[in-house]
Amino acid sequence: MVHLDRLQRPLRNLRLSVTDRCNLRCAYCMPEESYTWLPKGRLLSFEEISRLVDVFLDLGVRKLRLTGGEPLLRQELEVLIAQLASKQRLEDLALTTNGILLAEKAQALRTAGLHRLTVSLDTLDRRRFAALTKRDGLESVLAGIEAARRAGFQRIKLDTVVLRGTNDDEIVPLMEFARDRDLELRYIEYMDVGGATHWKRETVVSRAELLERLRAAYGPITPLAEHDSAPAERFLLSDGIVFGIIASTTQPFCSTCDRSRLTADGMWYTCLYAPQGTNLRDPLREGATNAELAQRILGRWSERADRGAQERLAMHERTALASSEELRANPHWEMHTRGG
Ligand code: GTP
Ligand code: 5AD
Ligand code: SF4
Repeated sequence: MVHLDRLQRPLRNLRLSVTDRCNLRCAYCMPEESYTWLPKGRLLSFEEISRLVDVFLDLGVRKLRLTGGEPLLRQELEVLIAQLASKQRLEDLALTTNGILLAEKAQALRTAGLHRLTVSLDTLDRRRFAALTKRDGLESVLAGIEAARRAGFQRIKLDTVVLRGTNDDEIVPLMEFARDRDLELRYIEYMDVGGATHWKRETVVSRAELLERLRAAYGPITPLAEHDSAPAERFLLSDGIVFGIIASTTQPFCSTCDRSRLTADGMWYTCLYAPQGTNLRDPLREGATNAELAQRILGRWSERADRGAQERLAMHERTALASSEELRANPHWEMHTRGG
């Protein structure tokens, strides 16, 4: 049974944020000095997460991505992964990480049954990495990528948020890095999500500009015709290299968006930009049955008309979504809470 929202989009893809904490402070996501964290006692246990995932599987979800904050900061994450990987109906189990802890965790993640891995990498320059993330961690990330390859992960993806004046001179070096290691690089447009308090239109390097600059370096680029709901559009260089662009800012993909997000404390959001979420933690802890939880989820999904990124695009005066004060008062707006 496929459950469609008001714009005929199925409920297929769930992003699970397992912690709101992060061990980096990327300028495009966590530029502030201080943050309000979710209270530890409210975080879902692995049993609670697993129970909710079963309900989502009943409702047609088939793709799961673990995110954060930084998901590898969650203690014993591999135990949760093993639990999730054993669910027969799940077709895809992926993880997005900043790579800092990956060298020590890669083998355990693989053994636990994780299918796919995406690592964020915005620069290959050590000093620039430290300035961008407020931590001298490039060596750890590079070691993490190597460890993931050694552990046998296939089709590892790299996510690069391109910021004008910060790393846009590394568009080609990052492509070379990915090509040499058989990784799939995706350039991501800087988004005005909650958390991006320094967002400015001028800092965004658009899909159009990225393609133009890549054409200048590599010659003709062929788009790959794919019809799915993945945010990345994929392209082919003449030497056979495939890369992606996620143009959430200038060319949003809301019309095919089948994703929703569960925060570490059990709030469920049907859009990255949705002002309100659905509390699944309280009913779960008050003893709701799977059928009752399913009803709560379906009730919301059947009303869903979110197209947050498209609405942002239509705005004339587009500035940061929320101020640092607003985010401190309501941390559920943060990208690092909702799942990057
Ligand atoms: P696969 O295509 O399944 O590999 O995953 P993915 O591309 O969804 O995963 P990933 O976590 O790597 O997402 C890449 C980036 O796309 C994120 O870090 C965001 O910048 C952006 N993004 C992810 N989810 C959304 C979303 O729901 N809406 C919008 N507008 N952008 C998103
Ligand atoms: N714009 C685009 N992507 C972002 N991410 C976080 N903040 C932003 C933003 N403002 C995404 C990046 C990063 C992942 C963890 O979250 O892809 O790699
Ligand atoms: Fe989906 Fe909302 Fe992102 Fe649009 S902005 S793609 S509806 S999560």
